[in-house]
Amino acid sequence: MNKIANVDIKELANEFGSPVYVYDAEQFRINYNKLKGALDKYYPKNHIHFSVKANSNIQILKLFKDLGAGADCSSPNELKLARIVGFDKNDTLYTGNYESYEDLNYVAEYDVKLNLDDLDSFKRLIKIKVPERISFRINPGIGKGGFEGITTAGSDAKFGIPYEKAAEAYKFALDAGVKRFGIHMMTGSNNLEPYYFAEVVDKLMSIAGHIFPELGIIPEYFDIGGGQGVPYYDDEKELNVDLMAELVAEVFKEKCEKFGFGEPELVLEPGRYLAANAGYLITKVTGIKEGYKKFIGLDAGMGTLARPSMYGAYHRSYVYGKEGFEKEKVNLCGQICENSDIFAKNQMLPKIEIDDLLIFREAGAYGYTMSSVYNNRTRPPEVIIDAGKTKLIRKREKFEDVLDLYPDELRKEFSI
Ligand SMILES: Cc1ncc(COP(=O)(O)O)c(C=O)c1O
Repeated sequence: MNKIANVDIKELANEFGSPVYVYDAEQFRINYNKLKGALDKYYPKNHIHFSVKANSNIQILKLFKDLGAGADCSSPNELKLARIVGFDKNDTLYTGNYESYEDLNYVAEYDVKLNLDDLDSFKRLIKIKVPERISFRINPGIGKGGFEGITTAGSDAKFGIPYEKAAEAYKFALDAGVKRFGIHMMTGSNNLEPYYFAEVVDKLMSIAGHIFPELGIIPEYFDIGGGQGVPYYDDEKELNVDLMAELVAEVFKEKCEKFGFGEPELVLEPGRYLAANAGYLITKVTGIKEGYKKFIGLDAGMGTLARPSMYGAYHRSYVYGKEGFEKEKVNLCGQICENSDIFAKNQMLPKIEIDDLLIFREAGAYGYTMSSVYNNRTRPPEVIIDAGKTKLIRKREKFEDVLDLYPDELRKEFSI
């Protein structure tokens, strides 16, 4: 792999340094248009909200806004970013969990579409303000993700109201004076199986059919979350979004008719599907160790790309300029002082030398947003390539930025 969006990777590393996150603007657009096209074909009254947690760079949020997407936020600061970018409040969702008074205060003031995680949160919210419209995140009792760490429903999940208690929450909100309603679920991330989405939508619709007619509520929107996956391994197949949209629309329309819901809005909150394959992490080889195993050390680690060490996620990697070279088995690791600072084990890669560039794919979602400054190694810059032009969209973090957080008193005492 030598180029990203037709720009030579070595040139990118020379200009912006290493490590560096690089995004292909056109790939974001292709992903959005593919998903949107499929949804429009089978259920035109849909709205895609890009999940800000996947990639919160304001330049990328603006790109999705320009395509017609809304924003899905999960913290007050993400909501602030959506405001900075100019998302209309009707195009902004807030789906938090264990929301504090401070969180709710900010969200209530901005008056966006709110998916609350629990009745307990609603009770806190109405001490501030009774909202005109509310939606609750329901845990439908089933969940599935690419692996356990990204499964967000079912009996072990911390999210949502167990479906058996959902009627109680909506009755409480109705009695408190709420006039307009939605319903939400998010059962897991990185699903590549179209039938799964129809299965969970069917479950959500049955839950809604059990709750709403009895309370005389006609929900305005059904938010089925994100969760659309991308292949991370060579042998995985792409999610067939056309089939997913067809299957989801079929069960959605059938149940809306059955329960007299009319034609509510179908809302999706994808992050990974829209962003993952548009991003790359370029790193440089800093050390080669012939230990019990062969280790390749990189100038990026678990602080730069957390997913492998966090929950065993896998990112495909390539060595710049070495296609067709003889391969050997290596373990890829970072420089962080943790044994979990491993990107991948037993990788068959072309023979690597010091200063080689190694590129990780599918780094456009949950890459930079999950990065940290552990070991006081600061975060890399972000660069986007659009129509052949490269643009720096976030500066490399400097150690001075870390020192800046010390209060003046300490800065003085330690002569910083
Ligand atoms: C509430 C909510 N919405 C949307 C998303 C985005 O999920 P994905 O990136 O799998 O599409 C998540 C991810 O965990 C989420 O928790």
